[in-house]
Amino acid sequence: MVKIAPSVLGADFAKLGEEIRDADKSGVDLFHLDIMDGHFVPNISFGPAIVKTINGLTDKFLDVHLMLAQPEKYFEPFVKAGSDSITFHLEVHPDPTRYAEELKSMGIEAGLSVNPDTPAEKVLPYLEHFDLLLVMSVFPGFGGQSFIETALDTVAVARKHVDDNNLSTKIAVDGGVDASNAARVVEAGADILVMGSAFFNSDERGALVKMVQAL
Ligand code: DX5
Ligand code: ZN
Repeated sequence: MVKIAPSVLGADFAKLGEEIRDADKSGVDLFHLDIMDGHFVPNISFGPAIVKTINGLTDKFLDVHLMLAQPEKYFEPFVKAGSDSITFHLEVHPDPTRYAEELKSMGIEAGLSVNPDTPAEKVLPYLEHFDLLLVMSVFPGFGGQSFIETALDTVAVARKHVDDNNLSTKIAVDGGVDASNAARVVEAGADILVMGSAFFNSDERGALVKMVQAL
């Protein structure tokens, strides 16, 4: 079954509690939490205190996407805040294996993300160490951007590598995913669709969740 992970960045923060509870009730599989430091990406979002708040509002799996120049410095506070998985970028750690081991030794899952301009071949050697590959289909920093089609090539190459090598690594796609491109993203090989604005701006969240899960 394809999974849907709403990106909380797309929620209305004036009513964050309501947004999380409503998303939870609509049947989402997990939550995607975007952490930005103003260095690796040109925007700042939120930190461990908000992750802890969200963890208190839902029992669902929390995947925390660290768009940080030095993600390892913040592994511990985000684990303590209730992260079930932490994803960091290959662009900041070209040799990421030791950080995957560090995260697993802290009792959570490890994810690795690649920007749209990072060739898929660069990430393949590391996939066996990670629970999740997060393929960016926008340049990270802001919600609501348009989907970059070439991300589908990265997804397809990664899918083939995962299948050929019998890996358990899940493939997620993040950025500009909506009802109009969801099927193509899944056809390319994605297991998990991250949706920020498309999910939180939808009046039919339950139907959107069912549509994605049935792909
Ligand atoms: C981009 C973030 C994404 C983004 C998703 O920097 O990593 O998770 O907020 O939002 P949409 O779906 O609106 O592109
Ligand atoms: Zn993200």
